[in-house]
Amino acid sequence: MKLGKKWFTSLVLTVGIGLVVSACGTSGGQQSSVGGAAGQGASDKVYVVGTDAAYPPFQMMEADKISGHDIDVMNAIAEAAGIKIEWKNTGWDPLFDGLDKGTVDIGISSITITEKRKEKYDFSEPYFEANQLILVAEDSPVNKLADLQGKKIGVQSATTGEEVVKKAFGDTYEGIKGYDDMPSAVDDFFNGRVDAVVADNGVLQYYAKKMTGKKYKLIKDDSFEKEFYGIMLKKGNTELLNKINQGLKTIKDNGKLQEIYKQYFGQQ
Ligand code: ARG
Repeated sequence: MKLGKKWFTSLVLTVGIGLVVSACGTSGGQQSSVGGAAGQGASDKVYVVGTDAAYPPFQMMEADKISGHDIDVMNAIAEAAGIKIEWKNTGWDPLFDGLDKGTVDIGISSITITEKRKEKYDFSEPYFEANQLILVAEDSPVNKLADLQGKKIGVQSATTGEEVVKKAFGDTYEGIKGYDDMPSAVDDFFNGRVDAVVADNGVLQYYAKKMTGKKYKLIKDDSFEKEFYGIMLKKGNTELLNKINQGLKTIKDNGKLQEIYKQYFGQQ
C-alpha cells in the first residue's frame, strides 16, 4: 500500500489519541456527583461505572477527562434516576472481569446486547442502534465482507466485530488480528499492517472523518445485522437495573437522549 502524507498525518493523530488514552489508562475514577434527594444509607451508595474509554465518540479520554456520548447518557440516566456514580476507565476485557468480581457495578461501553452476553449479564433497555462496517483503503477492490477472504482483518478482541469476521471465515481464520483496543487496530490499518478493520459504524465513521482526503471507504455488508447498545450489569441486581431503566425512560421521554445524540452525530 502506498501511504501519502495525509495517511501519515492521520497516523500521528491516531497514535496520539492512543497514547493519551493509555497514559490515562486505569488511573482511577472521576467522581461525578449527580443524583438528587440527599438520602441516607443505601441511596448514598456510589456505583462504579466501568468503560473502555478508547472508543470515540462514545467514550474517550480528552485532556485527562472521560467524555463521549455514552458518558453523557449514563450521567443523564444517573441524574434522572437519582443515583450517584463514579467513572472507572477499565479497558474492554477488564470491564467484564470487573463486573464478575464486583469491582464494577455498571458497564457502559457501546456494548451490544447479544444472546450470549445475556446468559451471564443483565442489560438495560437499548439506548443506541448500531451496525458493523468494514474500513478499507479507497482503492481496495473489497466491496463486501466475502471479499476480505485471505486478507488481514483487524478487530477489537471479544467484540461483535470479531464475531462477524469469525462467522464469515471461521474461528481459526489466520488473517484475523485481534487487538485489546480500537485505536491500536486503526493505527495498524493506517500503517498498512492490516488490510481492513471491522468495527461499529459510529467509531469507524469518527476515525474516517478525522482523516483528511478520501483515502478510505466504509462498507456495510448485507449480512450485518442491527445491533443495540445496552447498559450491562451483573445478573440479578434487579433494583439497580429498574432504576437505570426508569432513568433511561425519563431521558428518552424528555428528549435528553436525542439531544445527546445530536450533539455527537448531528441531525438524525
Ligand atoms: N459494540 C461492540 C460490542 O459490543 C463493540 C464495543 C466496543 N466498545 C469499546 N468501548 N471498545 O462487541
